[in-house]
Amino acid sequence: MSNTVSPSLPLNTDVPEWVRHPGLKTWVAQIAQLTKPDSIVWCDGTEAEYDRLCEQMVQAGTLRRLNPAKRPNSYLAWSDPDDVARVEDRTFICSEKEIDAGPTNNWMAPAAMREQLNGLFAGCMRGRTMYVIPFSMGPLGSPIAQIGIELSDSPYVVANMRLMTRMGRKVYDVLGSDGEFVPCVHSVGRPLAPGQADVPWPCNRTKYIVHYPETREIWSYGSGYGGNALLGKKCLALRIASVMGRDEGWMAEHMLILGVTSPEGKKMHVAAAFPSACGKTNFAMLIPPESLSGWSVTTIGDDIAWIKPGADGRLYAINPEAGYFGVAPGTSKKTNFNCMASLRQNALFTNVALTDDGDVWWEGMGPAPAHCLDWHGKDWTPDSGRKAAHPNARFTVAAEQNPAIDPEWDNPDGVAIDAFIFGGRRSDTIPLVTEARSWQEGVYMAATLGSQTTAAAAGVQGVVRRDPFAMLPFCGYNMGDYFGHWLKLGEQLQMVGAVLPRFFCVNWFRTDAQGKFIWPGFGENMRVLKWMLGRIDGSAHGEENLFGISPRYQDISWDGLDFPADKFEAATRIDTDGWRQELDAHTELFERLAERLPGALPVIQQRLLERLDT
Ligand code: OXD
Ligand code: MN
Repeated sequence: MSNTVSPSLPLNTDVPEWVRHPGLKTWVAQIAQLTKPDSIVWCDGTEAEYDRLCEQMVQAGTLRRLNPAKRPNSYLAWSDPDDVARVEDRTFICSEKEIDAGPTNNWMAPAAMREQLNGLFAGCMRGRTMYVIPFSMGPLGSPIAQIGIELSDSPYVVANMRLMTRMGRKVYDVLGSDGEFVPCVHSVGRPLAPGQADVPWPCNRTKYIVHYPETREIWSYGSGYGGNALLGKKCLALRIASVMGRDEGWMAEHMLILGVTSPEGKKMHVAAAFPSACGKTNFAMLIPPESLSGWSVTTIGDDIAWIKPGADGRLYAINPEAGYFGVAPGTSKKTNFNCMASLRQNALFTNVALTDDGDVWWEGMGPAPAHCLDWHGKDWTPDSGRKAAHPNARFTVAAEQNPAIDPEWDNPDGVAIDAFIFGGRRSDTIPLVTEARSWQEGVYMAATLGSQTTAAAAGVQGVVRRDPFAMLPFCGYNMGDYFGHWLKLGEQLQMVGAVLPRFFCVNWFRTDAQGKFIWPGFGENMRVLKWMLGRIDGSAHGEENLFGISPRYQDISWDGLDFPADKFEAATRIDTDGWRQELDAHTELFERLAERLPGALPVIQQRLLERLDT
């Protein structure tokens, strides 16, 4: 917004009469002046616009139309092999002071970054169209929602934003002539000289994903992929919104939200944080095993929650998104039936394989085809010795297609949260499930969450990294302050005598001596969920251990599952040596965050160490 270029409209483009916001028009003109697109399109979010853009991308080779008999109205994109995941090392929080971004974020002074970006964005849309994408994160007009306007030179981004957000002309009705919006500028960073042919997936080796938290702006350069380019998701709904939450007394979290209803019709709501690619979408769409008949799970969100205290002191959550951008590999009718049902039509796929009959396939979906084209577009057979789909291949689909969508998912007031769940991918140490003894100890559990890394982010895979609250790549300010924000909120709610959500820590990923997962996971996670809900309503028992309260074998419903007590022991055992190492690793995190770390956390650590010693 503070780029000092002349605000005169550089292009002969008419602004539609439904755009009535002079500040927005000036800003669009400024960005066009800087980036020099050939034309500007003001997106209206209609189906006709979506169809037109998809057809245009089919002509350009960016999309392939899938066989309409197999997968109606669906498309496949293959990205540039260098543009396949979020680029955390190129993601910046440019607060005025470095300490406000904190040691877990990359930082550059805003003035220096602006200078750098002005150079990169100058003329970067030449030969392309700049799309003006109006979107609302959260139900339109909800007091919790925020409006964003993304300017992008990627039609792929427009199509994805239409599925992932409430996007289109109706946003301008809410915005009016002086409403606030988060300005988001995105370019693939690949200008075209006159007559120069385009490539199917334009991008640039140089990438910047930049956030200015004080002025609430987002600038993204060089990538067309996922969270780097769909700026409503990680950039606005987490990094910028977490700062808004800090300043305004609410929370933007990397959490799915689900509703769970008992056979007696009692409904509770759970918000759960897991690092990327730990099965969040599967958990959000869980189908309970038949032996737990009468229980049902419904989806409010699969990735992000905005949570605010209500007038009654309870915490209410909305899903700011309107679609799912999920990891495809591993998703099957067996692991996530509702997700596969959601993907039957009107879906966009990125970096999965194309079968000979014009459908999609990925590892873990079902039997491999005898032949297909892999995500590089090369011939692939089961003995090719490489994966057909990229491990971070994705689907994009509107939430409304989920057969298990919760009737409250679009409620502008949100749903009251009864429990927070935190879980990482850990082959050892962390038990299947533990309830925190208090809000403070729950914050400790969440703050010290660790997980083995996956393909959702570029970089080394399989090592344990501390991922506090599963927010490491998504917290828009100092992580120590963020812990303080959680602690303060708990204190405030306690002071007004509010019913607080309980905290639980889970680990579905513990392995045995052969490296095989001990816990069956997926629908069977309902057994753990049921125990948690029992803890909340007082009907379930457990046993206190070092870390909190865990179920004993007899505290879980085992009907219909052959899971002997010795396996349960292996999934829940507290291994003292492992815990000593674990608590040591917490010290590393705390030392890193020392400047702003709330004193309560090392005190809890000390208490845990003393318990371990006795
Ligand atoms: C995501 C992620 O895409 O967390 O949701 O990486
Ligand atoms: Mn995520």
